[in-house]
Amino acid sequence: MSLPQLIMLPGPSNVPARVYSAMCKPMINHRGAEFHEMFERMITNGKKVFQTEGDLIALTASGTGGVECAASNLLLPGEKILVPVCGTFGERLANNFRTFGANVIELKVEMGKAPTAEQVQEALRRDREIKAVAAIYNETSTGTTVRELPAIGAAAKASGALFVVDAISVLGGDDLPVDKWGIDVCITASQKCLATPPGVALVSVSKDAWKMIERGKPRSEYFNLLSYRKFWQDKKETPFTPAVSTFFALDEALQMILEYGLDAWIGRHKKAASAYYAAFKGMGLTFFADERSRSNVVVAINMPPKISAKDLRDKLRKKYGVVVAGGFGALKDSIFRVGNMGIVTPREVVTTISATEAALGELGFPGTTGEGLRAAMPALKGF
Ligand SMILES: Cc1ncc(COP(=O)(O)O)c(C=O)c1O
Repeated sequence: MSLPQLIMLPGPSNVPARVYSAMCKPMINHRGAEFHEMFERMITNGKKVFQTEGDLIALTASGTGGVECAASNLLLPGEKILVPVCGTFGERLANNFRTFGANVIELKVEMGKAPTAEQVQEALRRDREIKAVAAIYNETSTGTTVRELPAIGAAAKASGALFVVDAISVLGGDDLPVDKWGIDVCITASQKCLATPPGVALVSVSKDAWKMIERGKPRSEYFNLLSYRKFWQDKKETPFTPAVSTFFALDEALQMILEYGLDAWIGRHKKAASAYYAAFKGMGLTFFADERSRSNVVVAINMPPKISAKDLRDKLRKKYGVVVAGGFGALKDSIFRVGNMGIVTPREVVTTISATEAALGELGFPGTTGEGLRAAMPALKGF
């Protein structure tokens, strides 16, 4: 029997049938009228999901391509950027800017916690030469979300710094009004809360960000934002051959999200998250993230003693067809992570909770089977 697996990962996420169907449309000329029409709709809808009046650039790349695009266009070599780091993706964000010559000042935050606006303000007060602040909104490796992101944005603005946000794992799954929160460059990727296969990164660019970009020569040919803007303005095209089929898919997914209603789409992630947190707590498990910073899109759960994350993941995948993630680096075996992204319905939630409960029971976890689901019921009722 080969039923499709339930992909409960922190990306890629499950893809709806209508998005897959859109992806299978016959190929078109990426320099022709059909492409122009589709691309224009995709960007217009993408801006609604980003809640921005700024520009939105679509890159044929995974999320890291979006980060690399920001890093290679925004700063001149030697310019200072402040990067709060509380996990693997924060480290990668810092490294990416370093690769392109920025003088990166890391603000280290304990894993499981999120940076606060006060910490950022303090760092900006200490060094008046900081030209930009770049933060991960949702640190996927630890399941933490920066709840003070708007205040961090305000602190960046107050000191005249550009505000860059890696929202790769969260845009569409939690509140993120890009313009209202003063975000100059916001990056996401197709394969997470936008319920699309991997392959497209989206990068929003504000007027202030364009001013920074226009100062210098971008250090990447492929990710040269000025040429993406020119091709968009002149022709509604991309400078290089785009992943046309993934564009079809993303175009469909964005229409689907807007038909559903952006607030309702985000709201579904929040409801499912409360069901997960109640369920795992009900099972007697604990969470890696500090309670105030818990993510609605990645639930990071501490492994109970004497059970390995690998065994749990294997059992879930092989017996129940549910695929969850382990931890990264030092957290590899000490946590497991459940992605709550994109298609989030009671089916995904109840199946994942029940399968986890059953698998843990089989691996010797002493909890009472059924307690997790029982604890999730109040949250599930409002779904
Ligand atoms: C916060 C964050 N940043 C960056 C990335 C890298 O994205 P990609 O694997 O699409 O390049 C991820 C992937 O999970 C992520 O969660």
